[in-house]
Amino acid sequence: MSGKRTRNLETITCRAPVNIAVVKYWGKRDEKLILPINSSISATLHVDQMCTTTTVAASRDFCKDRIWLNGREESMDNPRLQTVLRKVKERASNKSELKDCHIHVCSENNFPTAAGLASSAAGYACLVSALTKLFNVQGNVTDIARLGSGSACRSLDGGFVEWTMGEKDSGEDSTGKQIVTEDHWPEMRIIILVVSGKKKAIGSSKGMLRSTQTSPFLKHRADKVVPDNMKKMQAAIKSKDFPAFAEVTMKESNQLHSVCQDTYPPISYMNDTSWSIVRLVHAYNEYKGQIKVAYTFDAGPNAVLYLLKESVSEVLAFINHVFPPPNNQEKHLYFKGLPSESNHEVTKATLNSVLSMEPQQNAVKYIIHTKVGPGAQEITNEDASLLDENGLPKSMKS
Ligand code: DP6
Repeated sequence: MSGKRTRNLETITCRAPVNIAVVKYWGKRDEKLILPINSSISATLHVDQMCTTTTVAASRDFCKDRIWLNGREESMDNPRLQTVLRKVKERASNKSELKDCHIHVCSENNFPTAAGLASSAAGYACLVSALTKLFNVQGNVTDIARLGSGSACRSLDGGFVEWTMGEKDSGEDSTGKQIVTEDHWPEMRIIILVVSGKKKAIGSSKGMLRSTQTSPFLKHRADKVVPDNMKKMQAAIKSKDFPAFAEVTMKESNQLHSVCQDTYPPISYMNDTSWSIVRLVHAYNEYKGQIKVAYTFDAGPNAVLYLLKESVSEVLAFINHVFPPPNNQEKHLYFKGLPSESNHEVTKATLNSVLSMEPQQNAVKYIIHTKVGPGAQEITNEDASLLDENGLPKSMKS
């Protein structure tokens, strides 16, 4: 094990990425084991722009398990957290003398948790990465991440990742598997429009349970639509066929939100701004005469756009026209991540005729520009540890 060891304390620090699905997971066939009713595919977003960092420590001197999330101590009394911890210890190598120790966990996101940007996927992937290294668990551990949050099993690998639904009741074959590495399609870019809005009314776990119980369309989707979309998406990714990739991505997003409408009582995650972004994307693609950009929405109003590097500048000009930065907002606070300067000359007349949409100031809070990146990794740099030599958070709000 490469973690840091002092006399009484063993620590590991890991970093894990967010993933955004292009074939969506929505609905479980087993709530406890978090087994999905269909397979799904996602892209892993680059950790430089969005990631979770987690340090875990084990020591005979700790008198109980403790966890700090984004600077605040939280209860360990969370069934999913407990299941993950139990599973890791069950699979720990017999040699691991740490199995009887209590642990301390400290975890931080480099992006706002409340923004609803798949933070549980990065969070559980990071926790499982760190714990399995600490306890020396060998082999594929994506099924343990899945027990924390289904989509977390797609955040351990980089590039594009498939979560195979599996067939076994035990869930051992319901795992994440890399389709291609992050170097496969280097031109792929992701632009996230963080949309202003209240905290989501209903979280994804509750939402998909309600859909599973009440939506006949959900079953049709899982049986008849997703298997075909999985094949199309795998082929589009492997052959780097952007129009095919983009079309399935948008149809998958639309279908997820149609299932939410078919749920009883219905659930709506997208708001008016989300729908304006859908209109903008289709208007742009029509103007270009081919699909150049795709949108996708999860359990919230934020839009995630997939596009190729060559389109970024022009697409940003269109986005800027409809969603200009708030008047007094500094540019670097509105555009985060990779350079997002739009130097594309698009005339006002073109923007007006293509979009016929009024500017909506303040509808988008900020924009993150990122790309596909690597999976969860250990960080060996000593300064990266979030816990001090006593196993307490180096920085704590309260
Ligand atoms: C809409 O993985 O958050 O983002 O397994 O209950 O923790 P639980 O749900 P979660 O669901 C994510 C759903 C989604 C689509 C997706 O990521 O595939």
